[in-house]
Amino acid sequence: MFKKPRLTRRKAIYLGGAALGTTLLTGWLRQPKSLKAYAARKGLLYGAAGAYSKLSENQEFAKRFIEECAILTPENDLKWKAIHPQPNQYDFSQGDWLANFAQRHQLKMRGHTLVWHAYMPDWFKETVDRQNAESTLVEHITTVAGHYQGLIHSWDVVNEAIKVEDGHPLGLRKSAWFNWLGEDYIDLAFRVASEADPKAMFFYNDYGLDYDTEYDENRRNAVLNLLERLKARGTPIHGLGLQAHLLAKEKRFNAEKLRQFLRDVASLDLKIMITELDVSDKGLPYDYQKRDRRVAEVYEMYLSTVLEEPNVIGVLTWGLSDRYTWLSKHRPRNDNAPVRPLPLDREFKPKLAWESIARSFETVNL
Ligand code: XIL
Repeated sequence: MFKKPRLTRRKAIYLGGAALGTTLLTGWLRQPKSLKAYAARKGLLYGAAGAYSKLSENQEFAKRFIEECAILTPENDLKWKAIHPQPNQYDFSQGDWLANFAQRHQLKMRGHTLVWHAYMPDWFKETVDRQNAESTLVEHITTVAGHYQGLIHSWDVVNEAIKVEDGHPLGLRKSAWFNWLGEDYIDLAFRVASEADPKAMFFYNDYGLDYDTEYDENRRNAVLNLLERLKARGTPIHGLGLQAHLLAKEKRFNAEKLRQFLRDVASLDLKIMITELDVSDKGLPYDYQKRDRRVAEVYEMYLSTVLEEPNVIGVLTWGLSDRYTWLSKHRPRNDNAPVRPLPLDREFKPKLAWESIARSFETVNL
């Protein structure tokens, strides 16, 4: 019986050289169809934040999520308010659903987040004080990181501990945790997490590290100093997460300064992930084609810069589709047009931003 010959990769390349027509054809055949495939060819991870409420209710979205992503961050489902609704009560139902979803579809899962000043349950203010702060923190981390032991690729152990405007000489945020426990709460959180799930990686995650502004420069310095102090005292930390909530309108971008910062982080023997990338289109023209072009350009400019750093191991966007993005509420446009900050449009079709992300992965030099 006649069997159709399979076009192996080597043959495709060979044929590709034979004639222009076949070059185009084989070029097309070799082209990956998803962001995760583009990333994987360079040994990188691509993924996105996803919410239980959306992934469980919209099957088409869930299907697209699995197609595009190799790693998932629960958008809110592992935060204190969601997972620790009462002092003596945990609710793992939504986190477990996501962990199960990830496992079923061979996605890795990130943990987000064990210590943060925001998204705290109401009981926190009423119940926690200087006396019980340490035991509350230890108990929460032990319980949550312990519950997901073996399932998490990397935890954002501490989120957003830097706020230079708070006036602390080291730029530390004067959060409740800091006010009660001092800087030590950061080291403590990493140690407790690493005891609860020794095989996961542990990240410090923060925003405002991307631009050539005094504000971001101060934040970069404060973060770098914090990472140096943690490494010096032997804290079990493996990486830095850059949230990278970018603004399409902002032009003060300096590739060399950003690269230098990443090199400095890498020199501490830390991995780097871009953990929450999105590009707000607030302030751009109404015309969505113009908007999409600028947003795509910013994705490419940013990613082509950060991906040059070999310690960068993955990129996650904060959401996948413009239908579900926190920016609809957090940075709505003045003209109230629906925002378009993510790789897929509201119908889950790839936008120019998708192509920019794909091209950024494609052009990384190994
Ligand atoms: C945001 C979520 O996207 C929103 O749904 C929620 O209301 C607030 O938190 N930095 C972080 C994320 O580390 O956890 C935040 O996520 C966005 C900013």
